[in-house]
Amino acid sequence: SREGTANIVWHPTTVTKEDRQKRAGHKSCVIWFTGLSGAGKSTLANAVENELHQRELASYVLDGDNIRHGLNRGLGFSAEDRKENIRRIGEVAKLFVDAGVITLTAFISPYLEDRALARSLVAEGEFIEVYVKCSLEECERRDVKGLYEKARKGEIGQFTGISSPYEEPIAPELVIETGTLSVEQSVATVIDYLHQRGII
Ligand code: PPS
Repeated sequence: SREGTANIVWHPTTVTKEDRQKRAGHKSCVIWFTGLSGAGKSTLANAVENELHQRELASYVLDGDNIRHGLNRGLGFSAEDRKENIRRIGEVAKLFVDAGVITLTAFISPYLEDRALARSLVAEGEFIEVYVKCSLEECERRDVKGLYEKARKGEIGQFTGISSPYEEPIAPELVIETGTLSVEQSVATVIDYLHQRGII
């Protein structure tokens, strides 16, 4: 609230984001993976990070399950809690970008509005939305964690795709169809894009 921040002054830092990027030898950005549960967000984020790491670039993955055990412990899956989940992750991603890191986030992030907010926190060109596209049918067939089955039985409420909405990205920077592309092809698509945009 205004009251809470009225007497807090933002200190400019001596070492800037640009200084950190210069030392790292590449730019920083957020690569925001969004998609249904089981679409392959974590797999892809981790595979891309592995490639960046091999190339000795600074990277970090913020992942759904891990963040929900720590930073965002206590948040559930209501629209309100998902909003707060994504808002906090957006803010953390912004800090990582300031730190000069190529930051990969793997969250369902089902609401257009919440992703737009995350995008608005960083500069133009620093937010790369990757729609990890996979049909509900295919995600449900994979059912890696057995959650779709539970959701169908009514054992999990507000499950994305079943009893809670997923709003598809309108203009994502990249669309990756995980039912069609291999992990290697998907990684290459993301790496190519980073080259094209002069980030790496
Ligand atoms: S969100 O919508 O962005 O806030 O969700 P996220 O933080 O990415 O968490 C999604 C993971 O939580 C598990 N899970 C659920 N997902 C969707 N709906 C419900 N109700 C739910 N309950 C638990 C699920 O394992 C998701 O993991 P992924 O990796 O996406 O499969």
